[in-house]
Amino acid sequence: MKEKSIELLNKAVADELSAVHQYMYFHFLCDDQGYDLLANLFKRTAIQEMMHIEMLSERILFLKGEVELKAAHEVKKIHVVSEMLEMAAGMETGSANDYNKWANECSKNADSVSKKLFETLVEDEERHFNQYDDEMENLKKFGDNYLALQSIERSKNISAGKPTE
Ligand SMILES: [Fe+2]
Ligand SMILES: [Fe+2]
Repeated sequence: MKEKSIELLNKAVADELSAVHQYMYFHFLCDDQGYDLLANLFKRTAIQEMMHIEMLSERILFLKGEVELKAAHEVKKIHVVSEMLEMAAGMETGSANDYNKWANECSKNADSVSKKLFETLVEDEERHFNQYDDEMENLKKFGDNYLALQSIERSKNISAGKPTE
């Protein structure tokens, strides 16, 4: 039972680590273009995924396993904002599906704490999905104006002496 949970928890760590890398990559690119809203969303989400890694790792160590801190995927070098959001939303859906399955598997193995942990993560990933989905909708609705507005907002903040995050 313990071994299966450790394996699933480590798979989750690998996915979360990929998400941290991918979202930070998107953060850097959006920040470079002056898209503050999106840059901050990607950074905030990356930090939350890092906290997921912490929760998962604590559980692995409690079960006397080893934390395999290996990213599941290489970073995809995507430069188009609509494609970034599409990929991010897809990653969140994938994680939510996996964690739902893995929660059931842990439950079958009588590991209720790992089950609860996966269920908590599902809630977060669904919320992340929603945030990315909302931004995809905005981008569809307002087109390039949506991005232009973010750049203008940054210029306004800089000229007003407000710090950008
Ligand atoms: Fe996560
Ligand atoms: Fe997420």
